[in-house]
Amino acid sequence: MKELIKAKLVEVREDDPRAGLDFISKEKVKEIRGFHEKFKEYSLTPLHRLDSLADHLGLAGIFLKDESHRFGLNAFKVLGASYAMGRYLAQSLEVDFKELSFEYLGSQEARDRLGQITFVTATDGNHGRGVAWAARKLGHKSVVYMPKGSSLIRLENIRKEGAEASIIEGNYDDAVRLADEMAKKEGWVVVQDTAWEGYEDIPRWIMQGYGSLIDEAMEQLAVEGIEKPSHVFLQAGVGSFAGAIQGYLASAFGNKRPVTIVVEPDKANCLYRSAIEGTRTIVEGDMDTIMAGLACGEPNTISYEILRDYSDGYLSCPDYVAARGMRILAAPHRGDPQIVAGESGAVGAGALSLLMKRKEYKDLKETLGLDDKSVVLLISTEGDTDPDKYQEIVWDGDCGSI
Ligand SMILES: Cc1ncc(COP(=O)(O)O)c(C=O)c1O
Repeated sequence: MKELIKAKLVEVREDDPRAGLDFISKEKVKEIRGFHEKFKEYSLTPLHRLDSLADHLGLAGIFLKDESHRFGLNAFKVLGASYAMGRYLAQSLEVDFKELSFEYLGSQEARDRLGQITFVTATDGNHGRGVAWAARKLGHKSVVYMPKGSSLIRLENIRKEGAEASIIEGNYDDAVRLADEMAKKEGWVVVQDTAWEGYEDIPRWIMQGYGSLIDEAMEQLAVEGIEKPSHVFLQAGVGSFAGAIQGYLASAFGNKRPVTIVVEPDKANCLYRSAIEGTRTIVEGDMDTIMAGLACGEPNTISYEILRDYSDGYLSCPDYVAARGMRILAAPHRGDPQIVAGESGAVGAGALSLLMKRKEYKDLKETLGLDDKSVVLLISTEGDTDPDKYQEIVWDGDCGSI
């Protein structure tokens, strides 16, 4: 018997004191977007309209932001790494980052002033590729640790960016600890996409970097005549991505913000469990899921508070939900564009399709207010970052739905 999606909905109390959002306000994010816009690789990633799918599911609209087009790296993650590393170098040079371009930070002059730096990180693939890409562009070194079971294609793509990358014996959270230990021992700089007590500056910059994509999406929606979506599905590993997007929307729209639903794999559902327990809760073990980017067991401390204070619900999803999302986007309804979405990118689409169509989710759908007036925003955060696995799922039907 296959498991169903499990949901935990939360009542957000608007009057209680809540996590501060100044760092991820629209105004702040505009500054960071200005930094990204100076990259020669920069362009808006597409915002697709899925009218036919929306019609089929009984919704007024579905828009999907497609991050597989980000800087030629097939995932959104480089937005965070590039800004945080640029910001770190600007701080080391004692210059305001707004006065510097990424290009200058990679110049010989900047390097002469900074000396050779080694950036180190842990990753299931996408973040490490972003760190390696940015380190290469900036003329510095990178070391990347990946958890046991990581995809060899993803490892190879990180090495191609010039990083010294390896797969370790432990899980993602063990890889994070190793990166931290090695940095202390060797004098390297940790660029981790999650925060913990005493390590919050770089992860906060990484979250700000992710802000660029929601700022773009809101502008693209406005061109379509939509002020804001009614619902947003946000997939989460440690929750930095979800927290950044949630924070931006809560800061921009206050108590008129969209309904936001955090989506996780059931094997690594640390935010869903945190919502149930009412306290930041850690998931341990191998976290064996096809959603490699979401296989993280320890919530980012900054994001945890934002999601706790502003999000409306959490979904804990078996793997077939992501696989279904990948297949739906790969074989679109007539008139809709075809989208290549990887496992971690497609889980929101899979969950939405099941919530709208299956009778077992009727109450959940109604409580969330998903109906023919709803306009849903999905963010496909990666393309086929493991092309072999993508084909096993989309062509060969691995992880069939129930
Ligand atoms: C494709 C993809 N989507 C979503 C996420 C989730 O991001 P976070 O770990 O910040 O929750 C990741 C993280 O690596 C990812 O690679």
